[in-house]
This record gives sequence, C-alpha cells and structure tokens, in this order.
Amino acid sequence: MTAGISASMTAQLPPPPDGRQWVRLCPASEVPDDEGRRIGTVPPVAAFRQGTEFFCIDDTCTHEKYSLAEGWAEDGVVECTLHFAKFSLRTGEVLAPPATEAVKTHPVAVAGDDLYGALPANYLTRKGG
Ligand code: FES
Repeated sequence: MTAGISASMTAQLPPPPDGRQWVRLCPASEVPDDEGRRIGTVPPVAAFRQGTEFFCIDDTCTHEKYSLAEGWAEDGVVECTLHFAKFSLRTGEVLAPPATEAVKTHPVAVAGDDLYGALPANYLTRKGG
C-alpha cells in the first residue's frame, strides 16, 4: 500500500508537517457541506466542508466507534448520529458528551481539483489515493 500521490501533484502542496504525508482524499467537489465523506484509509478519516473551508478528522467517534462521516456538520462542529456527541472540526475537541476523548485532526490542502490530507505516516492508504 502506498500514498498514491504523484510527484507533480506533491510539488503543488506545501511540505507536510513532520511525520506526515500528503494523501489524496477525494475530489474537493465531492465533499458535502453538511455531512462528511468517509475515506478508506486505515484507520479511516473523514473529510468535511463548511462553506469554502475543508477539514479532515479521524472518522471513528471516540465514544463507541461510530463513523463521524455519518454525522451532521454545522458551524465547524460535527455531531455523531449514534449518541449525539459533538466534536470541533478544527481542533477535534469534544464539545458535547457522551464522548470524552478528542478525535485527531489532520491538515488539509486543495491542489487542482482534489482535496489532500496530511496524514500520519503510519496511516495506510490504497494505491491511487
Ligand atoms: S458513538 Fe458517537 S456519541 Fe456514541
């Protein structure tokens, strides 16, 4: 498994933070404005859009391992649909119980038509992004 990102595309992105690699998540146009788009990395991450701003967080709710991409996103906050915990899309912090542990957040960038996430190097991706 590799990151599936071409050298010409990485040239358009800033250097990733230490210990991270740019991974193509999906076409930016395919990220809905009020819910997430689950990306099949291991562990899975979820891409969100709020207006013109994009976010990437770990997809798994820290309460009982439900997909946050299934949640409702508004005003920079995602609400898990299983028990309604809320997380900041910007910082990952818990804004409403029952979750008590923050979700990990990841830097994002748009290059060309695609959204990229700077994921930790130990996150596995499918070839081709
Ligand atoms: S699984 Fe998300 S709040 Fe319970």
